[in-house]
Amino acid sequence: MKLILLGAPGAGKGTQAELICEKNHIPTISTGNILREALKSGTEMGLKAKTYMESGQLVPDEILIGIIKDRLQEADCENGFILDGFPRTIPQAEALDAMGIGIDAVLDIEVADEAIVTRMSGRRVCENCGSSYHLLYKQPKVEGKCDQCGGTLVQRKDDHPDTVKERLEVYHTQTEPLKEFYSKQGKLLVVHGQEEIEATSRLVEEALEGLK
Ligand code: AP5
Repeated sequence: MKLILLGAPGAGKGTQAELICEKNHIPTISTGNILREALKSGTEMGLKAKTYMESGQLVPDEILIGIIKDRLQEADCENGFILDGFPRTIPQAEALDAMGIGIDAVLDIEVADEAIVTRMSGRRVCENCGSSYHLLYKQPKVEGKCDQCGGTLVQRKDDHPDTVKERLEVYHTQTEPLKEFYSKQGKLLVVHGQEEIEATSRLVEEALEGLK
């Protein structure tokens, strides 16, 4: 299964990717996580990405295309993968096509902007391993601590309401045109994100049924 997850910031792409990859034994490639990791390690790429990410803007296409080209050549991608956060612009999608990968489907998770802004205020992430939680919808076993590694849970810098609004704006202008791009290729599957994670997962499973 070679799958792209599309959707606004906070639509639940990372959450659903985690569930799909567990069931299908394929890796999730999250460009957001790759960039945050680079930022944490202080690499040149991380430093270049910092200002864009913290202000809710997209990191330049050439950086992201380079990351994905290298990552998809790794052995664990042979039997499939989930792309979470890439492509995010038409030039990125065209570059992916030019790599000749043969994407099976693009799953678009639709959530209204108002719901996103409220939801993002409750997201917490592990500062050590990056695992994601929610104060209401996905609580850790011990308050403030990561279930996976015991790290401290913090709010992402770009989850502050003003930055979330900026990210939504960027999504609507630069990423949303990808829906038409992939619809024309006959690859677009649409799922309406639900109030609860499990309810969305059931719809995602139904949508992906035909791909197995
Ligand atoms: P990235 O990390 O990809 O951020 P994003 O796309 O904005 O997505 P998020 O991680 O914020 O949200 P998500 O949809 O994964 O939602 P989640 O599952 O966590 O990118 C960050 C930045 O990096 C970008 O702004 C950009 O600068 C840069 N970047 C990355 N890729 C790039 C690219 N290709 N080109 C250029 N720049 C790039 O869910 C959100 C919360 O809601 C969680 O707390 C979760 O528990 C909860 N939740 C999920 N589903 C539900 C549900 N159904 N009901 C209730 N709660 C739910």
